[in-house]
Amino acid sequence: MSKTHLWITGGGSGIGRSVARAAAAEGMLVTVSGRREDALEETSRDHASIFPAILDVTDAVGVDAVLDAIEMRHGPVDIAILNAARYQAMDAADFDSAGFRDHIETNVMGTVHCLAPLLARMRRRRKGRIVLIASVAGYRGLPKAAAYGPTKAALINLAESLRPGAAVDGVIIQVVNPGFVETPMTAGNQFPMPFLISPERAASHILAGLRRDVFEIAFPWPFVMLLKAARLLPYRLYFALTRRML
Ligand SMILES: NC(=O)c1ccc[n+]([C@@H]2O[C@H](COP(=O)([O-])OP(=O)(O)OC[C@H]3O[C@@H](n4cnc5c(N)ncnc54)[C@H](OP(=O)(O)O)[C@@H]3O)[C@@H](O)[C@H]2O)c1
Repeated sequence: MSKTHLWITGGGSGIGRSVARAAAAEGMLVTVSGRREDALEETSRDHASIFPAILDVTDAVGVDAVLDAIEMRHGPVDIAILNAARYQAMDAADFDSAGFRDHIETNVMGTVHCLAPLLARMRRRRKGRIVLIASVAGYRGLPKAAAYGPTKAALINLAESLRPGAAVDGVIIQVVNPGFVETPMTAGNQFPMPFLISPERAASHILAGLRRDVFEIAFPWPFVMLLKAARLLPYRLYFALTRRML
């Protein structure tokens, strides 16, 4: 029987690298994508079944070509984890449209550029799983996440919208909402990060979620529960809480 082929974008660091390594250790054939060749090679070092494929997800045409190439080389993608993203703190004082657009281009359009051809191929094959990496920051607006938060809210909404229709053709859509994970993305954060976990721990939550057919894979659960409860608060109480985070 052929190996499960997993494709993960943003596989050159952080959560993507840990997921790639853990999936390879479980016997999957893994293709990792990102813009930095050296980072992808570092991920695949010592792992015979991890293969790099350089890709900038903001380049829609390039995504199609890379997907063609990796499917020619390693067979159809069975599971795609759309994980590539950027994050820069942004709030009222430093809000700017160019920075906002960069977040939309990478986190939303970059994901969509991969999602569209994957959905078409998997629907034709009546088989496949697409996992969007969003964030608990997409649940509700948080201070300093004025550019990043809206992109993650969009991905959650997008996954909710697509899941029923994709399932009709045998394609599973899942969303991952991590809390704080210790990666290059969070390394520069100047604020406390409650319930911070390692990327290896995040990877094990994600792989466990792939084995089940749950829609949302969210962790660590105490932080997720707190933020889900905060979704129910009326605005007066919610802003009293988030003002304290400034
Ligand atoms: N860390 C956290 O606390 C946390 C919490 C919730 C959600 N998340 C989400 O988890 C995912 C992984 O983040 P991480 O924490 O592991 O951060 P990370 O180490 O910074 O990983 C982000 C990856 O995305 C890739 N990337 C960025 N722009 C790209 C582009 N245009 N084309 C292709 N690849 C691109 C980067 O590689 P190149 O620079 O080589 O392209 C990098 O490997 C992201 O979706 C993030 O939003 C993280």
